[in-house]
Amino acid sequence: MTFEPSVKIAPSILSADFADFGAEIRAIEQQGCDWVHVDVMDGHFVPNLTFGPQLCKAIRPHITTVMDVHLMIAPADPYIESFAEAGADIITAHLEAGPHPHRTLQAIRATGKKAGLALNPGTPVEAAAPLLDLCDLILVMTVNPGFGGQKFIETQVDQIRRLKALVGDRPILIEVDGGIDPATAPLVSDAGASVLVAGSAVFRGGSVQVPSVYGDNIRTLREAAAEASRKAA
Ligand code: DX5
Ligand code: ZN
Repeated sequence: MTFEPSVKIAPSILSADFADFGAEIRAIEQQGCDWVHVDVMDGHFVPNLTFGPQLCKAIRPHITTVMDVHLMIAPADPYIESFAEAGADIITAHLEAGPHPHRTLQAIRATGKKAGLALNPGTPVEAAAPLLDLCDLILVMTVNPGFGGQKFIETQVDQIRRLKALVGDRPILIEVDGGIDPATAPLVSDAGASVLVAGSAVFRGGSVQVPSVYGDNIRTLREAAAEASRKAA
């Protein structure tokens, strides 16, 4: 029996070599990742600065899978079109980033891109209930956003489970981000997440010179998550 991988692995290029994004993206894609996760930070919504639409546009031609853009910026609305023009496939904005999340999600969909809603760990997932029909994806943060390499917040497992129940049979992907590694992947997968973002756990130990380590790391995560979903089935 062939096993169809239902879990998607989305490496965060926050943990890649910033001087060599093109080669890093080719390496993770050749090594079997499903999406490429791009963390946009503004030094205001989160205490760190990364990159903007120009960087997204520059790396776009190197991505053959899916460009998954996670906006950790407030406000988000004025920049949505720029990220769409830069070639994002999915644009995810935080519920906490502004007072009008319906407008934000509508603005994303108006660009023709998939709309994602991200929730900080301090936000109860029930807050997404009025917005579900505007979401293609909900990103449950499993750390407070801002940096790679932080410790997974265990209480988010119950939040993922509650969100899964809330979503029901709607066509909404549940993505998780922060502290995902072979130990935590089974927990989030069992709770209902199907897209796993991982920075440290994918890039750890590898490089564009030794890309097979990325492949080993991706496979290990995928297998850890798949094992949990098989047990749950
Ligand atoms: C955190 C970012 C994450 C981060 C994950 O603010 O949104 O995407 O890169 O890094 P790890 O997997 O190292 O926790
Ligand atoms: Zn992220």
